[in-house]
Amino acid sequence: MSTRSTVILGTGAYAPRRVLTNEDLAHTVDTSDEWIRTRTGIRERRIAGEGENTSDMGVAAAKAALADAGLVPADIDLLVVATVTPDMPMPAAACMIQHKLGVPTTAACFDLNAACSGFIYALDTASAMLTSGRYTKALVIGVEKLSAVVDWKDRTTCVLFGDGAGAVVMGLGAEPGRGLLGTKLGAFGESVDLLCIPRGGSAAPATVESLANGGHFIKMKGKEVFKVAVRAMDEAARDILEQHQLRADQIALVIPHQANLRIIEAISEYLELPMERFFVNLERYGNTSAASIPLALDEARRSGRIKPGDVTLLVAFGAGLTYGSALIRW
Ligand code: UT7
Repeated sequence: MSTRSTVILGTGAYAPRRVLTNEDLAHTVDTSDEWIRTRTGIRERRIAGEGENTSDMGVAAAKAALADAGLVPADIDLLVVATVTPDMPMPAAACMIQHKLGVPTTAACFDLNAACSGFIYALDTASAMLTSGRYTKALVIGVEKLSAVVDWKDRTTCVLFGDGAGAVVMGLGAEPGRGLLGTKLGAFGESVDLLCIPRGGSAAPATVESLANGGHFIKMKGKEVFKVAVRAMDEAARDILEQHQLRADQIALVIPHQANLRIIEAISEYLELPMERFFVNLERYGNTSAASIPLALDEARRSGRIKPGDVTLLVAFGAGLTYGSALIRW
C-alpha cells in the first residue's frame, strides 16, 4: 500500500436556478407537500434549465472548485466524472467537460458509474491514480441531470430526485495522516433490479414501445432500497471507522448521501451519533445521486462546518446497489 496521501485542495458546487417545490409537484401528480416532507424530508429540488446539460453543471462546479484551490484548468491531468446521466451515452461527459473547461488534451478523462455512491468511488479512483505518481492534480466531479430520466407521472419517484453538481480538486499531500485517510467500497449486484433504468441500454435498446411504456425512466422499489440503504451505510461507516481505529464520536461531521432524512436519522441512531453531527441539505435539493455528497461537502466547508484537523465521514449507497464510505482529515 502506498504511504503517500492525497488531499482535497478545493471544493465547488452548482445548482440550477429553477426551484421545483413540493407544492408545484402536487399540481401535476397525486401527492402533497405533507407526504413528501414527512416521508423524505424534501421540500424542493432544482431542475436544470432549457439546454442546460450535465456537462454545463459539471463545468460550473469545477470552476468553483478550481478557484477555491487557486488552480487553473491547465493544472489538471486527471478528470473523473461520477454520473449516471451523461449528456450522451457516448462519449463520456468528462470529455465534454474537459473541452468546455479547457483542461489539457494530455489529461486522462473518463466517467464512472456507481450511481449515488459514484463520488466516493471517484475519490478512491482519483486518489489511487494520484498516489501511483503518474498524475499530479485531479478534478473529481459528481453531477446529475436526473430530471431527464425521471418519469414525471410516477409519484413514487418523481418527488425524490433533483439536478446539481459538486466538485473537488485533489492533489498529493505533504503530511501523512492528513487528507483522504481511506475508503471502503462495495456492491450488492444481486439487487440491480431494485433501482434501475431498464430500457435504452444494449440489452434492450429503446423502441417505440419501450418509450411509450416509460422503460427509459428510473424504476425503483423504494421500500426494499430503503432497507438495504440503512444496512449498507451503517456497515460501510462502521467498517471504515474500525479500519482506522476511530470511534464514531471522533467524527466531527458525517456527510451522508442525501436521499431521505429518515435514512440519515436511522444511521444516526445506529451509530449513536447525534443528528447535529450529520450535514443535511436534502430539503433544498432532493436526491441528486452522484452530486449529492460533493454538493453537501462544499456547503459544509463554506458554512464553516469543517475545521482544520476535523475528521469527516462520507457515506453513500445507490443503484447497483453500490455503497461506499470515506474518511477525510482536514
Ligand atoms: O439514492 C438511492 C435512491 N433511493 C432511495 O433512497 C429510496 C429509498 N426509499 C425511500 O426513500 C422510501 O421508501 C420512499 C420515500 C421512496 C417511499 O416511502 P415509504 O415510507 O417507503 O412509502 P411506501 O412506498 O411504503 O408508500 C406508502 C404509501 C403508498 O400507498 P398505500 O399503498 O399505503 O396506499 C404509496 O402508494 O404512500 C403512497 N405514495 C405516495 N403518496 C403521496 C408513494 N409515493 C407517494 C407520493 N405522494 N409521492
